[in-house]
Amino acid sequence: MGDFHTPVLLNESIDYLITDKSGTYFDGTLGFGGHSSKILETINKNGLLVSTDVDLDAFNYSKSKLGKAQNMKLYNFNFSKIKIISKLESIKAFNGIFADLGISSYQIDDPASGFTFRKEAKLDLRMDKTIKLTAAEIINSFAEDEISNIIFKYGEERNSRKIVRRICEKRKLSSINTTTNLAEIISEVVPERFLKKTLSRVFQALRIYINKELDVLKTFLDDSVDLLAEGGRIVVLTYHSLEDRIVKEKFKYESLACICPKDYPVCRCEKVQRLKILTKKPVYPSALELSLNRRARSAKLRAAVRI
Ligand SMILES: C[S@@+](CC[C@H](N)C(=O)[O-])C[C@H]1O[C@@H](n2cnc3c(N)ncnc32)[C@H](O)[C@@H]1O
Repeated sequence: MGDFHTPVLLNESIDYLITDKSGTYFDGTLGFGGHSSKILETINKNGLLVSTDVDLDAFNYSKSKLGKAQNMKLYNFNFSKIKIISKLESIKAFNGIFADLGISSYQIDDPASGFTFRKEAKLDLRMDKTIKLTAAEIINSFAEDEISNIIFKYGEERNSRKIVRRICEKRKLSSINTTTNLAEIISEVVPERFLKKTLSRVFQALRIYINKELDVLKTFLDDSVDLLAEGGRIVVLTYHSLEDRIVKEKFKYESLACICPKDYPVCRCEKVQRLKILTKKPVYPSALELSLNRRARSAKLRAAVRI
């Protein structure tokens, strides 16, 4: 497994997640099975783990590795389908729900996915290959304003207009079909010292837009809180500020017992507190983990318990 992806904050995730070894758990981002394997090792034969991944290669790899486990069910679904999966498995509530967001090292390195600007690959960026829209289609056919807005909103890239103006000049001459072709064009308008960060932001923005990552995360969090058993825990690992903000705000909202304006003498909102936050500050990887796994450097773990 280590060949494809090294699991991040592994022991911390399991410590926050598992409170009942006979419980029912959900891993929404199976990947190469790092966290799922550890959950399976930790629960007993009465426990159950349901894991899903939207990426077919990750699903097939983990199915061949873990699919024989008696107390595991595997799906090749988006985690936003957690309610459908729980219905299919006749599960009313989970004792723990886990997600390790983003993409795996395998996806980053896979030339077929085009997730990185470091390797020449088709401009694709779909996690789920049944999605129609690819990055090449956005870059070659969306209006200039539309592309700028995507890169500004999902990449928080302040130079989005300048970058996209150059992309639109270049695509008039010939279509832009590879990761390195796009990176070269961006390098013409961004100083060398900012280039790596800018390229990361542009690729992140396209990936988030294509895979609707922020919308599916919101649906997943809403449905997960509904599906947690009392005392059940939700643990989420995030890798950039946009997804972390969504998790932080959802946990905060669900941990409030009242959302009335401060000047109301009595509460009229009927809001119900459903979560208690377990991590006032996010948990970060240790110095040792960071020295062993570069990918862990932007990880943050947030956890909450259903009350
Ligand atoms: C960071 S990796 C998870 C790695 C895994 N925890 C491990 O240790 O092997 C994220 C995985 O989640 C999957 N993924 C991302 N968004 C998803 C979604 N909305 N639904 C299901 N899977 C998703 C990706 O395809 C990728 O395999």
